[in-house]
Amino acid sequence: MNILLLGSGGREHALAWKMVKSHHCDNLFIAPGNAGTSEFGTNLNISVTDFSAIKTVCLEQKINMLVVGPEEPLVKGIYDFFQNDVQLQNIIVVAPSAEAAQLEGSKAFSKKFMQRHNIPTAGYAEFTLDNFEEGKKYIAQHSLPIVLKADGLAAGKGVVIVNSHEEALQVFEEMIIHKQFGEASSKVVIEEFLQGIEVSVFALTDGTHYQVIGHAKDYKRIGEGDTGLNTGGMGCVSPVPFMDEAFMQTVETKIIRPTVNGLAKENLTYHGFIFFGLMNVNGQPFLIEYNCRMGDPETEVVMPRLQTDLVALFAAMDNGTLVDTNISFDERSCATVMAVSGGYPEEYKKDFPISGLANWQLNNTSFVFHAGTKIINESVVTNGGRVLAVTSYGNTIAEAVITSKKVLEKISFEGMYFRKDIGYEFE
Ligand code: AMP
Ligand code: GLY
Repeated sequence: MNILLLGSGGREHALAWKMVKSHHCDNLFIAPGNAGTSEFGTNLNISVTDFSAIKTVCLEQKINMLVVGPEEPLVKGIYDFFQNDVQLQNIIVVAPSAEAAQLEGSKAFSKKFMQRHNIPTAGYAEFTLDNFEEGKKYIAQHSLPIVLKADGLAAGKGVVIVNSHEEALQVFEEMIIHKQFGEASSKVVIEEFLQGIEVSVFALTDGTHYQVIGHAKDYKRIGEGDTGLNTGGMGCVSPVPFMDEAFMQTVETKIIRPTVNGLAKENLTYHGFIFFGLMNVNGQPFLIEYNCRMGDPETEVVMPRLQTDLVALFAAMDNGTLVDTNISFDERSCATVMAVSGGYPEEYKKDFPISGLANWQLNNTSFVFHAGTKIINESVVTNGGRVLAVTSYGNTIAEAVITSKKVLEKISFEGMYFRKDIGYEFE
């Protein structure tokens, strides 16, 4: 099969690495890709939302399967674009329909879906300009902290958690009146704060059946000890010790199964990844959010632990045999530590040469996944806030983290920073 993968981050480098292992994969193309993905296939200088350029390349390269990394093309309807085009409709598209992708694209849509299917989640209400005054009253009587969420996609910045009613009112006004996130914040979800430990579970679903392909805990804050600004993710570990069989069973019964049943019942077409962002509140799972894609950097630990052929799973999802597949995992732990540009998640500079990258796969124990890199004059330079995700296997999480940090000590670029305490709770 000829496969086209959309995206350019560490998630896509890890997916590319995993897919080329499959004997079903003949040629891999990545649009736009990064310096790392070019080791596994051909990078194409095409934007992930340029559907007509994607169509042209699919026809030129005789693509049989499209795998979508980031959320934007999903929410913009890439699945429907392929289905509605006679020249593209035979291509296997690993994605939900635009309607189903609202599970990620609209917080209000996903909260209503959770309520309809009795999926445990934080209590909430939604507001627009039309009931702005009502929203202010709702905030005034709300318990603290208060969670405010822009309804639409806001590049991971649309969730604000505040500790006072005054601040909540300010944020509410910023979002709705001043359109802080444009159209994305013309509707705002206000919800209860859930106190607990976050964990993400990943599944593949064909809209009727599902298979869990892994789970991970990520570290979102820039600073050690979980301090400072939120980032896209500074590191990840898997498996998470509290995700034992009993807890996982509860997650499946209360969250995953009702979600997939809900998709089927509501005729929401879905052939793709589903990412459950969970909070473990005193041993009980609550669903914070859905994403219709893999996480980044979660993919960088989930893919190395998944032993099953990923391309075969995608094909099974398409032909209705997902339910019959067997999923197996590497028993070892995995950790990834993200090296970021100085200044990230605020302003940072790009184009710094990266040294020490000679061998991206070290002794089959560590992998250097590229998150934000490109090649200029044959050398690899930084090209984003998150630059490299170094994943290692270990007998324990602590051992995997130590190995990744050792690899990172040999790599350098101007302003490079990484958290040294990834997995600190599990030492
Ligand atoms: P989301 O974009 O929905 O993933 O939210 C971003 C982050 O905000 C989550 O990963 C959580 O850390 C936090 N968060 C969102 N909703 C809640 C909530 N109801 N209670 C506590 N933390 C939350
Ligand atoms: N690491 C969180 C995400 O991919 O949304």
